Amino acid sequence: MWLLFILKNKFGYDDSLDVFGVHGVGGILGAFLIAVFAKSEIGEVSGIIYGNFSQLVPQIIGIVAVGIYTAVLTFVIFRVVDAVVGLRVSKDEEIEGLDERIHGERVVNETNKTVMEIVMKFLCIGDVIGRTGRNALKKFLPVVLKEYSPDFIVLNGENAAGGFGLTKKVYNELTGLGVDVITSGNHIFDKKEVLQFIDTEERLLRPANYPPGASGKGYGIYEKSGKKVAVINLMGRALMGIPLDCPFRKFDEIYEKIRGNVDYIVVDFHAEATSEKMAFGFYVDGRADIVFGTHSHVATADEMILPEGTAYITDVGLTGAKYSVIGMKVKEPVEKFLTGMPAKYEVAKGKMIFHALFVEKTPQKTDIKRIKLEEV
Ligand SMILES: [Fe+2]
Ligand SMILES: [Fe+2]
Repeated sequence: MWLLFILKNKFGYDDSLDVFGVHGVGGILGAFLIAVFAKSEIGEVSGIIYGNFSQLVPQIIGIVAVGIYTAVLTFVIFRVVDAVVGLRVSKDEEIEGLDERIHGERVVNETNKTVMEIVMKFLCIGDVIGRTGRNALKKFLPVVLKEYSPDFIVLNGENAAGGFGLTKKVYNELTGLGVDVITSGNHIFDKKEVLQFIDTEERLLRPANYPPGASGKGYGIYEKSGKKVAVINLMGRALMGIPLDCPFRKFDEIYEKIRGNVDYIVVDFHAEATSEKMAFGFYVDGRADIVFGTHSHVATADEMILPEGTAYITDVGLTGAKYSVIGMKVKEPVEKFLTGMPAKYEVAKGKMIFHALFVEKTPQKTDIKRIKLEEV
């Protein structure tokens, strides 16, 4: 059998049931060894070990004759099958599996997930703004979990504590809701408390293109549903006001390190300029599985699968107060724009809205769906 596996791989012939390996080689070997071990008491002739070489030639003739007969007949049968129904299924059907394509059945385990088909479902949630955002999560996330059953949830938490930054309590609250990884952006260091846990909490990321020396880390690899998911957090440079390293080249650097070691790559690209976000999406198309934009707090309706297969959206949009200026009370921003005077922004309350991006990936295709749930 050991030899067979080597031969099969070497010649690359298609024999998923190992018919040739088991029956063909077993038969050849058996026929040949009769000439070696035959006992006259059983089969009227004795074998080589009893000093009789005369059975060797008939056995070899038998092996060759059966081989020719089988090869010719198999060839004829294959030709007939090929002409009538076709010899093999398409590449796509082969990858998806014949259970599903031909018999219309899936192999299902007790958790109702297919084990023959690799499906990975991601939920990407944009900036969650303050307590209102967390309340919106508590209200709408269970609904989304029930309907979409995501395997992996990424959430941008840079505004989750009081609208600016993140505290340990809020971090625990978010991970307690089932969030796998919390990404962030320009507001991650607003609450100084974050410095006490950002280096130790594996599931918390800050943009990877912060220059060396910044606290925290910019990407992580997480195991979920038997798969390795890399989450990379990056921040744009246009109109952001923070002197960061190039996010494009930083992606290249991380990608070269992790490629081959992970099953999926998800990027939160936290940026103001829509052009920079789109350029980044196309730049990593085919390398990242998902690029979801955050930071603007305003959802865009441009979710799409890019030409090379990356699921992309420019901005997921906020989760927080529906009637607000990017999650904040309306009065102060209006005053600021009217007078030019500085104003203290506060998290808006009232009716809530939840935005997310859902992405379902199989080896054959990627589905993308923008989710918006709101109180009316
Ligand atoms: Fe934000
Ligand atoms: Fe931001």
